[in-house]
Amino acid sequence: MQVVELISKKRDGEALTTEEIDWLIDQYTKNAIPDYQIAAWLMAVYLRGMNARETSDLTLAMMRSGEQLRVRDIVTPVVDKHSTGGVGDKVTLAVAPLTAACGVAVGKMSGRGLGHTGGTVDKLESIQGFRATLSRAEFIDILVKHNIVLAGQSQDMAPADGKMYALRDVTATVSSLPLIAASIMSKKLAIGSSHVLLDVKFGSGAFMKTQELARELAVVMVEIGKLADMHTVAAITSMEQPLGHAVGNALEMAEAIAILRGEGPVDISELCYHEVAELLVMTGKAANMSEAERQVEQAVRSGAGVAKLAEVIAAQGGDARQVERPALLPTAPVRTMVTAPRSGYIAGIDAEQIGLVSMRLGAGRFKKGDQIDHRTGLVLQAKLGDQLRAGEPLVEIHARTVSEAEGMRDALLACYRWSEAPVTVGLLIGEIIHPS
Ligand code: URA
Repeated sequence: MQVVELISKKRDGEALTTEEIDWLIDQYTKNAIPDYQIAAWLMAVYLRGMNARETSDLTLAMMRSGEQLRVRDIVTPVVDKHSTGGVGDKVTLAVAPLTAACGVAVGKMSGRGLGHTGGTVDKLESIQGFRATLSRAEFIDILVKHNIVLAGQSQDMAPADGKMYALRDVTATVSSLPLIAASIMSKKLAIGSSHVLLDVKFGSGAFMKTQELARELAVVMVEIGKLADMHTVAAITSMEQPLGHAVGNALEMAEAIAILRGEGPVDISELCYHEVAELLVMTGKAANMSEAERQVEQAVRSGAGVAKLAEVIAAQGGDARQVERPALLPTAPVRTMVTAPRSGYIAGIDAEQIGLVSMRLGAGRFKKGDQIDHRTGLVLQAKLGDQLRAGEPLVEIHARTVSEAEGMRDALLACYRWSEAPVTVGLLIGEIIHPS
């Protein structure tokens, strides 16, 4: 086979065969195809798309490019949960321990933040001593002993995705539906849980800007899960504004702990509890959503959820006292309040720009390998639809220095749109996609 033929075939809108896709991914993983040819092929896929068969072939080829853990052969049922990424998205930090506290095992590998979206591993690393890099044996041991493990993405799993994602990031080919679906699902299949809940985001802070596009992506991923015999459900949820109040690593960790204690912001708490309930029903732990919701409520009220988070953090070398007493989490030396520049209703909060301001404060990376500052970020004091008077608190900046904090004021104020009239806010959970 010749790479140039496969590039031109896709450039001209033709479908590639299973053998062609397998060959391309296998050769690329072995470094036998240069990046510039794969970059051209990625752009052809970006512009021409892929049919459902090609997308699942690509997913399977990427899954086979590395190690396969098959956690379901060790514990079953065992669930995984994945968000397509957003700003202030600390949902995994609450959903995973709550699910485990309700008696369903959770084997989770998470990514780091890149671009304006945060990463679960970075948030967990705001806990002193926490270790996300685990060997295969440690991953399994912690999962079996504690019913939960929260690891970083292993480099040995779906390595074709790691290489391709880095190329997509610098060739404007990230936001392609088949490429996102294959990237996410290849990693999910390589871990090999029995059940997966996907949280597919739409809106200003998400890859998919509209609910329709998010639905299209969700349907493709749910069908791939079904083909691979992995029970997959997708929640389509809004990323029109940052989730909850906190944006930034230690700040989000503290908010996740509040959610586990039943003291978090209402909107994101309801989303987390709903996702746990979905997982309990999917795995047969609860007969229906109302029974599942009762189990979740009990795990929150009894403190079992927050205790489970402390337990897994201790098992991975972290200081569990920071979960028991979030005041011990690292804090930024400078806190500055930005106030409302006018009276009115908040009509828009640009989630992507909020994420970028948080990055510039040190909470995120501009390029892979950059050091982050776990202490910095933002705490939103008001959300979409809230009515404020001029001078009331709008958003608090947590910064390393006064000049860094002051330097963000204008950029932050530019994230907000205002209205004289009351604003209707859409639901956080758009819809739930089940396998057909
Ligand atoms: N998350 C992933 O893992 N891959 C993508 O392509 C997009 C989001």
